[in-house]
Amino acid sequence: MNHFIVTGAAGFIGSHLCQKLLSAGNTVFGIDNFCDFYDPEIKRGNIEEASQAVTGEGSFHLYEGDIRDKKFLEKTAKDINIITGNIENVVLIHLAAMAGVRPSLLNPELYQEVNVGGTLNILEICRKFKISRLVFASSSSVYGENTSVPFSEKTPTDRPISVYAATKKAGEAMCHAYSHLYNIKTVCLRFFTAYGPRQRPDLAIHKFAKLITEGKSVPVFGDGSTSRDYTYIDDITDGVVKAAVLTGSDDFEEKFDIFNLGESQTVKLIDLVKLIEKELEKEALIEWLPLQPGDVPVTFADISHSREILGYNPTTKIEHGVREFVKWFKR
Ligand SMILES: NC(=O)c1ccc[n+]([C@@H]2O[C@H](COP(=O)([O-])OP(=O)(O)OC[C@H]3O[C@@H](n4cnc5c(N)ncnc54)[C@H](O)[C@@H]3O)[C@@H](O)[C@H]2O)c1
Repeated sequence: MNHFIVTGAAGFIGSHLCQKLLSAGNTVFGIDNFCDFYDPEIKRGNIEEASQAVTGEGSFHLYEGDIRDKKFLEKTAKDINIITGNIENVVLIHLAAMAGVRPSLLNPELYQEVNVGGTLNILEICRKFKISRLVFASSSSVYGENTSVPFSEKTPTDRPISVYAATKKAGEAMCHAYSHLYNIKTVCLRFFTAYGPRQRPDLAIHKFAKLITEGKSVPVFGDGSTSRDYTYIDDITDGVVKAAVLTGSDDFEEKFDIFNLGESQTVKLIDLVKLIEKELEKEALIEWLPLQPGDVPVTFADISHSREILGYNPTTKIEHGVREFVKWFKR
């Protein structure tokens, strides 16, 4: 049995990750502030479902609080130190963040405070409590307007085009500094649009399914040709667990690395709408709108590095994933 701290535990990705870790018999310490970026009741439902996966020697502990609050984090870390007997052996998976490109333009200060300031607080906890294994949730948005696809981790990422992307890039940079200074084995994961059951309601597949069901118009920005590398939630959490394993490996001499977690298949926006229509057996009323500031034309992951070093092997085709999403959505 291993011990994990998961920040953002009640969110879409966090709750699936907790469920996976708990069902393998691990102990998980979840941290979340249940912010109202979307309905907090959804998050309570997520974590309730995930916590039922506890098995064997494992257990689940929820700490409700804010990663901007240093006192709360210190108190939580002290408590975890007592329960585990030694917090130094815990793997910290930092997912808590304000997500989303467009809302980051409306509230840049909040994004900076949570995603940059909050991440710094987490890194300080690692330093003070000698936590030496860290996984950080970054994003494909750091690739900005790059059009040479697929995006490899070696592609320059110093030209973000949204506040959200800039905060994720800053997070990666700070993770590198702390890894170098304090010997923290760190993996940054660039997630490419995650989807599946419990997907955030603001994200394309969930938002479109709701609008189509309600007979409302579906906003399609641009001419429908923008494309995304949609990554099924089970493949994402599989990659996160593999990254956590790498941080504990003696072979991880570099101490710091960055990996893309994508499906490495792109889907055009308009084809995505058609797929959802098919699964819902209902036609969409499309409202064509201009491209939004901060939107990137394409995301497409080169996953050769993740395959080679992590053993990451995503398997979910978009048709299957959308079907699974719609099954959950209808329930
Ligand atoms: N979903 C995606 O497609 C995607 C893509 C790229 C990167 N990411 C990153 O993955 C991580 C998880 O994303 P998600 O889609 O599950 O989002 P989510 O919003 O569902 O989950 C984030 C969780 O963090 C919590 N949180 C927010 N601010 C907090 C704070 N100040 N203190 C404590 N908890 C706080 C929220 O309450 C929420 O439960 C985020 O870091 C996000 O930026 C997600």
